[in-house]
Amino acid sequence: MAKQFDVIVIGAGPGGYIAAIRAAQLGLAVACVDAWTNAAGKPAPGGTCTNVGCIPSKALLQSSEHYEQLNHHFAEHGITAKGVSLDLATLIGRKDTVVKQNNEGILYLFKKNKVSFFHGTGSLAAKTDFGWSVKVAGKTEEDLEGRHVIIATGSSPRELPGLPFDEELVLSNDGALRIPAVPKKLGIVGAGVIGLEMGSVWRRLGAEVTVLEAMPDFLGAVDRDVAKEAQKALVKQGLDIQTGVRIGEVKTSAKGVNVQYTDASGAEQKLAVNHLIVSIGRVPNTQGLGADVVGLKLDERGFVAVDEDCRSNLANVWAVGDVVRGPMLAHKAEEEGVAVAERIAGQHGHVNFDTIPWVIYTSPEVAWVGKTEQALKAEGRDYKAGSFPFMANGRARALGDTTGFVKILADAKTDEVLGVHIVGPMASELIAEAVTIMEFRGAAEDIARICHAHPTLSEAVKEAALAVDKRTLNL
Ligand code: FAD
Ligand code: NAI
Repeated sequence: MAKQFDVIVIGAGPGGYIAAIRAAQLGLAVACVDAWTNAAGKPAPGGTCTNVGCIPSKALLQSSEHYEQLNHHFAEHGITAKGVSLDLATLIGRKDTVVKQNNEGILYLFKKNKVSFFHGTGSLAAKTDFGWSVKVAGKTEEDLEGRHVIIATGSSPRELPGLPFDEELVLSNDGALRIPAVPKKLGIVGAGVIGLEMGSVWRRLGAEVTVLEAMPDFLGAVDRDVAKEAQKALVKQGLDIQTGVRIGEVKTSAKGVNVQYTDASGAEQKLAVNHLIVSIGRVPNTQGLGADVVGLKLDERGFVAVDEDCRSNLANVWAVGDVVRGPMLAHKAEEEGVAVAERIAGQHGHVNFDTIPWVIYTSPEVAWVGKTEQALKAEGRDYKAGSFPFMANGRARALGDTTGFVKILADAKTDEVLGVHIVGPMASELIAEAVTIMEFRGAAEDIARICHAHPTLSEAVKEAALAVDKRTLNL
C-alpha cells in the first residue's frame, strides 16, 4: 500500500524545500523526495543552491575577499602582515562545513514541520483514484501517492557541444568550487553570473583568469551604466574579459586545456589554461521524472510548461523554480514554492515577477530590480533618472570602498520607481529597500522623504532618489 500525502514535492532545492515547509505549515501532509547525495554518501537536501551554488560560492567569495583585502588593501589602514599564506584545503573545507550546516538545517526544518523526507529519485508513475503515484528509487524503494505533486527538480549546467564536464580539467560550477590547487591560468567560457563570481574567487586567490564571452556587450541584460562601471572595476582587478568571441576547438591534455577562439576583431586566438570553467547557462532537470509516462508537457526548451500560477497541463501537478520559465534564482524558486503551497491550501499565493531582484556578488557587487534604462527607452516610456556615486557617501569613504553608484529610474509623470540599479559595496543588501518601494509602487520622492541612518551606504539610495528631482544634498 502506497504512503499517501496531500502534497509530494520532488526536489529539495530552495523551490522544493520551501514549498514543503509552507504546505506543512498550512496543515497539509507533505512528503519531499530529493536525490542529492554528498561525498559521504549522505542525503544532502538544499539542491544546487546549497550544495554547489549560492551558498558555497558565497563562502568562497568571502574567504577570497579576506585574502584580497589582507594582501592589497589593509596596508592603507596602516595594517600590514608578514608571511601571509593561503591554505586552500582549509578554505575549501570551511566552504564544505558551511554547506553541511545548511543541509542539516533543512533536515532539521523538515523534522520540525513534520515533512516526511525520502532520499532518492522521484518519478511520476501514474494517475490514481487518490491523485498521483510517485515512485522513489534509491537505497530503498518507496511507493507514494499524492493528491498534489510539486515538481522542483531544478537545473544542471549546460555543456559546450562535444566538451563534457570531467570536473578536473573542464569544470562546471561543481568543479569550479573545489579546484585542489590555485591554478596558474584559469579559462572561463561565459561572462555571466557564475563566470564573474567564480572568476573573482580564483583571481583573488592568485590565478590569471581569462573570461571568454560570446555576446558583444558585457552583461547585456544589465543597465548599461552599471555594466560599464562593473566591467571597468573587474578589469582593473585583473580579470581579462574578452567579449564578442566565438569558441572553436577545445582540446584537453595531461597539461590542461587548449582553447581556440575567434576574437571580436575576427582574429584567431589560442588560450592554454590549467582548467576551463564552462558557465554558459543551465538546462532544466526533467530526465527520469516520468514526464512522458504521465503526459507532462514540456515547452520547446525542455522546461516544464506552466501557466503564471505554476500549474502544469496535468491536474494538481505543479512546477516551480529553475525547472520552469523565468529567472534561475533561488529566491524566485522560493517565492513560487510558497505561492503554490498556498494555492493548494486554497489561499491566493502570488509572485510579483516585476520585483525580483538580481545580485552578482563580485566586488563591487551589482544589484538591480525592475527596468533598465535601455528597456525603458525601447518601450518609449517617459522616465527621469537620478544617480549618486558612493565616492560622495561618507560611509563608503570610511569603508575605503567608493566604487560605483546608485541609479534610480522613475516615471516622468507619476514619479513611480521603475528600476533601481546599484554597483558598489553591499549592493546586495541595499537593493532590498528598492524592492520594498517597488512592491508598494512607491515614488522616488517616497525614498527621498524616508529618514536613512547616517552614516550608511543606504544614504546613497536616498540621494539617488533626490537626484531624480535634481536636488541631491551631498553632491
Ligand atoms: P535546485 O536547487 O537545482 O534543486 C533541485 C533539487 O532536485 C536537487 O537537489 C536535485 O538533486 C533534485 N532532483 C532533481 N531531479 C530529481 C528527481 N527526479 N527526484 C528527486 N530529486 C530530484 N541564485 C540566487 O538567487 N543567488 C545566488 O547567489 C546564486 N548563486 C548561484 C551560484 C552558482 C554557482 C549556481 C550554479 C547557481 C546559483 N544560483 C543563485 C541559482 C540557484 O542555485 C538556483 O536558482 C536554485 O538552486 C533553483 O532552485 P530549485 O529548487 O528550482 O532547484
Ligand atoms: P548566465 O546566463 O548568467 O551567463 C552565461 C553567459 O555565457 C552569457 O553571458 C552568455 O552570453 C554566455 N555564453 C553562452 N554561450 C556561450 C558560448 N558558446 N561561448 C561564450 N559565451 C557563451 O549563466 P551562468 O553564469 O552559467 O549561470 C547560470 C544561472 O545561474 C544564472 O543565469 C543565474 O540565474 C544563476 N546564478 C545566479 C547567481 C546569483 O544570483 N548571484 C550566481 C550564479 C548563478
